[in-house]
Amino acid sequence: MKIGFVGTGNMASAIIKGIIEKEFIKAKNIYLFDVMTDKVTEFSKEIGANVCRSNDELIRSVDVVVLSVKPNIIEKILNETRELIIEKSPLLISIAAGTPIEKLSTFLRSKEEVSIVRVMPNVNAMIGKGAAAVCGNEFASKEQVSYVQNMFQSLGMAWILPEKDFSNFTALAGSSPAYAYLFIDSIARAGVKNGLPKDLATQIAAQAVLGSAAMILESAENPWTLIDRVSSPGGTTVAGLIALEDEGFISTVVKGIDATIIKDIELNSK
Ligand SMILES: NC(=O)c1ccc[n+]([C@@H]2O[C@H](COP(=O)([O-])OP(=O)(O)OC[C@H]3O[C@@H](n4cnc5c(N)ncnc54)[C@H](OP(=O)(O)O)[C@@H]3O)[C@@H](O)[C@H]2O)c1
Repeated sequence: MKIGFVGTGNMASAIIKGIIEKEFIKAKNIYLFDVMTDKVTEFSKEIGANVCRSNDELIRSVDVVVLSVKPNIIEKILNETRELIIEKSPLLISIAAGTPIEKLSTFLRSKEEVSIVRVMPNVNAMIGKGAAAVCGNEFASKEQVSYVQNMFQSLGMAWILPEKDFSNFTALAGSSPAYAYLFIDSIARAGVKNGLPKDLATQIAAQAVLGSAAMILESAENPWTLIDRVSSPGGTTVAGLIALEDEGFISTVVKGIDATIIKDIELNSK
């Protein structure tokens, strides 16, 4: 399979480096086009991929096209390349946030069978710890959807989800890294308040949260079981838990996720 990336910015370059490193594909089978000609030429030299002179040339060269430009550019690109896409019928992958499959099909203005797989990756794909949701349209075969899932598994974890759950996923995995950073910074700030230097407090808090997340994934225990395990009777942890819940910790987090979902639904419908 040959994969082409339309747009080679932050997300595409993280995906490309990850899939080469995890040997999902060889660099010689990757094709790139970006309007930032110098940047894409330098990047392709660094990784050993091919550079195309236009999106048309890229589509002609590959079996899979990844649309990895900003969402507001997608309509223009699909308008310019729609005839070639319909003729060549590559597997079309879009990672654009807030751009449902129906919108992509509308941009193609075609009733022809074009296999489209929408992916919602997250920023941690950049360090191989990503979380991605994958959903195919009615023309995408099971094999094509699995292929895309495998591609994103090489950058962390990837789940096949119905598109109706994408706003929920966007909140839980797309935006939640920001909330996790905030949580870590809040713990570190408390450490500073109580006398530790900020860098050290941040390192300690990040390592504790990293280990806790790994514990949930690796032990397959329910989080409440793990909470009970560190809450000894009359101890420090239970005192802290009750103080957090006095301030509505759980409902505050749920409200944050709900607000994210509402905003995503609003953006999708524009
Ligand atoms: N970053 C994330 O954490 C994240 C998470 C989930 C999903 N996404 C999605 O990933 C996509 C890419 O985001 P990003 O942050 O990687 O954006 P980015 O860094 O701006 O990369 C997009 C690249 O595409 C180039 N470009 C613009 N018009 C083009 C055209 N007509 N043909 C080819 N290339 C063109 C841009 O050049 P210019 O800079 O000159 O415009 C830029 O180099 C977005 O749709 C976003 O919603 C990103």
